Amino acid sequence: MNRPFVFINIAMTVDGKIDTFERRGAAISSQRDKERVDRLRASADALMVGGKTLLGEDPKLTVKSEALRAERVAQGRSPNPVKVGIVTEANLKADSNFLNTGPAEIVIFTTRRTSKEQLSLLKARHVHVYAAEAEKVDLQHALAVLKGMGVERLMVEGGGTLNFELMRLGLVDELTAYVAPLIFGGASAPTMAAGSGLERNAAIPAKLINVEKWDDGGVLLKYHFTR
Ligand SMILES: NC(=O)c1ccc[n+]([C@@H]2O[C@H](COP(=O)([O-])OP(=O)(O)OC[C@H]3O[C@@H](n4cnc5c(N)ncnc54)[C@H](OP(=O)(O)O)[C@@H]3O)[C@@H](O)[C@H]2O)c1
Repeated sequence: MNRPFVFINIAMTVDGKIDTFERRGAAISSQRDKERVDRLRASADALMVGGKTLLGEDPKLTVKSEALRAERVAQGRSPNPVKVGIVTEANLKADSNFLNTGPAEIVIFTTRRTSKEQLSLLKARHVHVYAAEAEKVDLQHALAVLKGMGVERLMVEGGGTLNFELMRLGLVDELTAYVAPLIFGGASAPTMAAGSGLERNAAIPAKLINVEKWDDGGVLLKYHFTR
């Protein structure tokens, strides 16, 4: 297979929301879940986010625990996984968390809509940039490029539009969802799979692999998709 093993991780509310209607990156994970996510990150070769999450939240996208980073280094790996952004029009600031928190290799897949000034900034910061002559990033191509760079395990950290596109294209192997005991409501609040949606007969079947009930009131769900 010309792509890495791809797993999505999300934190959502009981009503399936991954943020409030305000879209400011609301905290959903418990402390225990944050630690689980950090271990999952440390197990990955690369971490991917979609354009709205990248530009709206400016995530650091690094392994938080010093011990986990040291473990990776002891295994002959980089302290942090490669950071990957899928963004139609990249507009990262020179002082952004994404560009400055590391050390980590950074890869941006973008389109012709990204300005020359931004491309120069990214290149000056040694970011690997793939700018396609297309309206949207070709996800299949992006995964093949990452595989070519040696990425065997790719963790996708949202948002809903990127999650949906990857699942629609059959490019996802595993999904873990922490369901926090909260309700956000709001018709416009983002869910874990957005995009254009599917008709009932095209629904993507997911196989439930594991369920954990946590003391913090949350539930951890794990699903597999057939390759
Ligand atoms: N709770 C969680 O686990 C979690 C995790 C991450 C994010 N979030 C939340 O999710 C929300 C953002 O999600 P979102 O759905 O709006 O955006 P997103 O998935 O972060 O980014 C999607 C954007 O990426 C660009 N893109 C380019 N090529 C694409 C392709 N082939 N497929 C998909 N996207 C492509 C598009 O930008 P253009 O539209 O400009 O073309 C698209 O709108 C935020 O509220 C954030 O807080 C929650």
